[in-house]
Amino acid sequence: MKAGTYSSIGEALFNLDLGSGNYSCARCHTKGWSYGEPEITGGGALGPNLTGGSTVRQFPQRDAMIEFIKGGSEFGKKYGEQGQGSGRMPAFGLMLSDDQIGAIIDYVRGL
Ligand code: HEC
Repeated sequence: MKAGTYSSIGEALFNLDLGSGNYSCARCHTKGWSYGEPEITGGGALGPNLTGGSTVRQFPQRDAMIEFIKGGSEFGKKYGEQGQGSGRMPAFGLMLSDDQIGAIIDYVRGL
């Protein structure tokens, strides 16, 4: 997907260069994104695959997913239905507004 061809705000935010890219969702969840050869969006890299409805299975309640994205993961702490935190998923509650997080979540839940 080329820059400037996003079809929703959620998709654009998912790929946004937050913190010079360090905090971009795509950096950790889309293989090849950081070196300019992105493969399947959200298909998984350092972070897990988010496609195929996996986030809806992990977080049947949208609110629980909002909490997770806002707070990030903690080492040794479970999240969602069967997630095991390593502490490598950053907290976005201070980086993105509630509206922005909502838009990303709607986008990711449809991947
Ligand atoms: C620095 C890397 C990194 C960034 C940036 C990042 N994530 Fe993650 N994410 C992870 C890791 C690693 C996990 C797995 C949990 C863990 O290891 O603690 C994860 C887990 C998740 C999960 C749970 C998936 C599952 O099935 O268990 C979702 C949903 C998610 N991230 C969405 C996002 C969104 C949306 C963004 C951007 C707002 C984002 N992530 C940014 C690394 C990242």
